[in-house]
Amino acid sequence: MANSSLATQSQVETTTFDELESNVQSYARSFPVVFNTAEGAYLFDENGNRYIDFLAGAGSLNYGHNNAHLRSRLIEYISNCGITHSLDMHTTAKEAFLTTFNDNILAPRGLEYVVQFTGPTGTNAVEAALKLARNIKQRHNIIAFTNGFHGVSIGAMAATGNSHHRGAAGLPLTGVTHMPFCNYFGDELDTIAYLERMLDDPSSGIDHPAAAIVETVQGEGGLNVATPRWLRALERVCRKHDMLLIVDDIQAGCGRTGTFFSFEPSGIKPDIVTLSKSLSGYGIPFAVTIFRPDLDCWKPGEHNGTFRGNNHAFVTATAALERYWGNRDFETEIADKARLIGDALAAIAKDYPDDVIAPRGRGIMQGLTCHSGRLARDIVRRCFRAGLVIETSGSEDEVVKCLPPLVTPNDTLNAALDILGESTRAAIAAYKPD
Ligand SMILES: Cc1ncc(COP(=O)(O)O)c(C=O)c1O
Repeated sequence: MANSSLATQSQVETTTFDELESNVQSYARSFPVVFNTAEGAYLFDENGNRYIDFLAGAGSLNYGHNNAHLRSRLIEYISNCGITHSLDMHTTAKEAFLTTFNDNILAPRGLEYVVQFTGPTGTNAVEAALKLARNIKQRHNIIAFTNGFHGVSIGAMAATGNSHHRGAAGLPLTGVTHMPFCNYFGDELDTIAYLERMLDDPSSGIDHPAAAIVETVQGEGGLNVATPRWLRALERVCRKHDMLLIVDDIQAGCGRTGTFFSFEPSGIKPDIVTLSKSLSGYGIPFAVTIFRPDLDCWKPGEHNGTFRGNNHAFVTATAALERYWGNRDFETEIADKARLIGDALAAIAKDYPDDVIAPRGRGIMQGLTCHSGRLARDIVRRCFRAGLVIETSGSEDEVVKCLPPLVTPNDTLNAALDILGESTRAAIAAYKPD
């Protein structure tokens, strides 16, 4: 159970951060306490208050905070003076990661990809993917989708829909055509048929794209789910128009939706995939862009970065892949927990009309879409007061997003979902639409 008495929260001194840290801080505003330690699905603040973590590093902690198995492997590696920084030189830690990633993830799924270690952020993996596609096809245009989020560096941000982030760019964001995502207009309009028509028509005004980039479940964009049928149709259109298909699996990958890659149930085979967030398994910065070997047109160091390939991340990622992805058992566990969460969200929503609150999402990437961002923010605020760290997503911040570690025990999930249910009911009771 989360600590129900959090009286000390409001007295927390955050002055240091107010005075010395930039205004750019964001999550800190939703959770104005000073966190100190963390274990599994729990965060503890400096006053010893305990919170269930349904944010989990925005999906970077799929195996929980300080996962004991990963931690012991990392401590052992450090204690033995294992190399920390090696640019992109070969190390035993890198070799172990590449071998395990191939043996436990790629080969069993019939996927043949080479691995590019990019700078250790999701956005840099996306930059590499876009650059590679443009260089291969010698075309500048990329198709991205409404509500997609791909990062905040200039190239990735051009493919991102969110106007709040785009507005900070300071220069025109070009080279991307945004098309409607799956069900953008409800089920009235087939958005792939729309895309195909635009690409078929040489007078549609769309420059022939090098690639399309897509999230199968839009994490920051509000838990919008692309159906397997839609993804297969997108793949078909990409093939027809000689475009590469990039799946940005930075948030939805690494098991978050139930399979290691989020696109597995659809049967598509993307040409390029980006992974980051939970790839290291331990919250250590790490990102890769993986692609078909025949697309590997990079010249040495063309896309480089001092911190590409982080040996501590190699160690914890390898430990995670061995521990959780050696067979299909973990996928069964994720499916059970996803069902538990889905049932609980449906039970919370069932007493209200769909335009007040409705369940959304897939796997352990589900939530509640609310009447407005104001309602969602009130739910999140009430949750935090009751000991649950949970955030919103969506174009108006209108979706309360459950992103717990995939290893969260069921009783902890139930405790958190009880808090979410109570907070939702209280927030709706207090809510007066504009
Ligand atoms: C799908 C997706 N792509 C890219 C990114 C950017 O990753 P990073 O914040 O590590 O740059 C994110 C971050 O939330 C994401 O969800």
